[in-house]
Amino acid sequence: LSSIRVDIADVAVGSQITVKWLGKPVFIRRRTAEEIEQARADNTADNLIDGFARNDNRAADLSADDQNRAMDETGEWLVMMGVCTHLGCVPLGDGAGEFGGWYCPCHGSHYDTSGRIRKGPAPENLPVPVAEFVDETTIKLG
Ligand code: FES
Repeated sequence: LSSIRVDIADVAVGSQITVKWLGKPVFIRRRTAEEIEQARADNTADNLIDGFARNDNRAADLSADDQNRAMDETGEWLVMMGVCTHLGCVPLGDGAGEFGGWYCPCHGSHYDTSGRIRKGPAPENLPVPVAEFVDETTIKLG
């Protein structure tokens, strides 16, 4: 009951869909090669605010490296709760903000292409919910 299956067959590279799960928005983004490259180059950036992956599928103490947040090693798919970790607004996506990822207009939090908080009042990276591929074009949440 608490899990849903999402058909991602029609999600083009460089776009995202938002689905509702447990009453909250979930962002499912199919990243471009450039977005993945930027996210991984920034693994060592000194302005990462939150050093943890915040991925419910992985160990709690894993670092915020992009590889620890994406659905798989290729990094094409990024699934995150669409809830700003400051006070819960829904961030804008599709390259919004100063880091080309998401931007929360409520109080100005900027998230990068890995959904990591880079600037603004939000304290944590956008959390990655329990998610898995059940086949090539279906992601199960929960
Ligand atoms: Fe997003 Fe405050 S709720 S910046």
